[in-house]
Amino acid sequence: MPTSDERLERLQRMRREARLGGGAVRIERQHTWGKLTARERLDLLLDPGSFVELDAFVTHRSTDFGLDRQHFLGDGVVTGHGTIDGRLVFVFSQDFTVFGGSLSEAYAEKICKVMDLAMKVGAPVIGLNDSGGARIQEGVASLAGYAWIFTRNVLASGVIPQISVIMGPCAGGAVYSPAITDFTIMVEGTSYMFVTGPNVVKTVTHEEVDSEYLGGALTHTTKSGVAHLAAPDEATALDHARTLLSYLPQNNLADPPALPTRDPADRRDPALDAIVPDDPAKPYDMHDVIRRVVDDGAFFEIQPGWAQNILVGFAHLGGRSVGIVAQQPAVLAGALDIGSSVKGARFVRTCDAFNVPIVSFVDVPGFLPGVNQEHGGIIKEGAKLLYAYCEATVPKVAVITRKAYGGAYDVMSSKHVRGDMNFAWPTAEIAVMGAEGAVNIIFKDQIAKAADPLAERARLVAEYAAEFDHPYVAASRGWIDDVILPSETRPRLIAALAMLADKSEANPRKKHGNIPL
Ligand code: HXC
Repeated sequence: MPTSDERLERLQRMRREARLGGGAVRIERQHTWGKLTARERLDLLLDPGSFVELDAFVTHRSTDFGLDRQHFLGDGVVTGHGTIDGRLVFVFSQDFTVFGGSLSEAYAEKICKVMDLAMKVGAPVIGLNDSGGARIQEGVASLAGYAWIFTRNVLASGVIPQISVIMGPCAGGAVYSPAITDFTIMVEGTSYMFVTGPNVVKTVTHEEVDSEYLGGALTHTTKSGVAHLAAPDEATALDHARTLLSYLPQNNLADPPALPTRDPADRRDPALDAIVPDDPAKPYDMHDVIRRVVDDGAFFEIQPGWAQNILVGFAHLGGRSVGIVAQQPAVLAGALDIGSSVKGARFVRTCDAFNVPIVSFVDVPGFLPGVNQEHGGIIKEGAKLLYAYCEATVPKVAVITRKAYGGAYDVMSSKHVRGDMNFAWPTAEIAVMGAEGAVNIIFKDQIAKAADPLAERARLVAEYAAEFDHPYVAASRGWIDDVILPSETRPRLIAALAMLADKSEANPRKKHGNIPL
């Protein structure tokens, strides 16, 4: 019969063993690759000393292919809960030093346990991914384990925030868990995501490509849009996850935390009055507008490198967390194309799911014309953004800074899609299309027959612009609530958000909508 001292000693020994994961040699190898261990990552992610580990003694069950001779306490994933800025979060951190972080049945059960707890108590889940995928020796049990996680990802979607940080390999079907979560963050140079790796690609399509180009952080944050943020190192990636949570509530029944600021709510910025160039063809950088308006100039941009004709991200206004959606006139004149529509739609829906009011800055010449766009499905892709704005019931406030043409005017948080407060700057132009295009269509014959067609065209353009290129027709109908000085945008937005703080609006009861996918 062991003594109680021996029992305590056994526990301490097992704890030490669990902390070592796959052993000192493999930890050393992980460090050589410039990667931290699963536990070191959790130390950086969570408030100091807040991590509470669960299931440290779980091991795999399979005895096939020599697995009966290798047991690692914890089985390749460290799970539990902790706090970030004092708020509860659940975490799992895949341990590459144990069977390459590959997922076994027991490992999947550990992840499912924290996900289930997170759903019961209504707290976010952050997953740190660094894994060789399905544990080959476990076969279908491992595939089942992935599917248990996918199902939970889906059921938790829109209920609790879910963030994935990719810090090593993430391949095969394993990529679909991060893909279902709300945000994916990748570490540059050491992480990759793909459905099939370079070898399979070479066999099937004869394309020569390396992991980095196929599925590295740069690829997924600039070409595919799969990842939302890239970070130069692991510490920054984990910091991004912390920052993201600071804008989000614990769950869909809570409000995001406020961030008190010394930036005065009545601060006016005279530079905004001159920010829109007189020449309608001249771009300006919408980042400048956003930073001059939001608290302390802090704009946490999401997907900054992809579909740059639209800007999305989080900020605070008067201490309230807001999601910003804005055209970027400096890229493709801010036109809505396939990428920007999908990017905007996803962000609007994320904000709506988590009670984050949406502030839109509108300068949009319309949907982007072109064969590529039409053949790529701009009709259904653009409809996603329209759908998202129509569906959203959080407070929606918009400022038209310059162009709001055609269908894109409707889409971008207009009063007609249940926008709550709609402001326009005096420089706003709300019309079916720009003056040049409109005149070319409706006065085609008149221009052709004129003695001096060019002069006639110019005269008609000026006439049309004077008639339509301003916000006052829309304002006369009440579809623009007020035309405001650009310099007073901040106080007006803060007042609007305060007024809308207790907004309550519901959609009809249904199983779920059928967003065009
Ligand atoms: C079991 C694995 C493993 C796996 C790696 N290991 N992947 N063990 N199952 N899937 C083990 C290795 O045997 C090795 O053990 C250790 O992890 C480190 O692997 P290395 O190959 O030495 O490391 P590295 O050279 O960095 O290569 C990492 C890797 C490579 C790129 C991830 O290991 C690899 O290609 N693994 C297979 C990936 C894969 O095809 N997985 C299945 C994908 S399909 P020791 O003992 O030496 O430390 C999938 C389906 C999901 O996941 C299903 C969802 C529906």
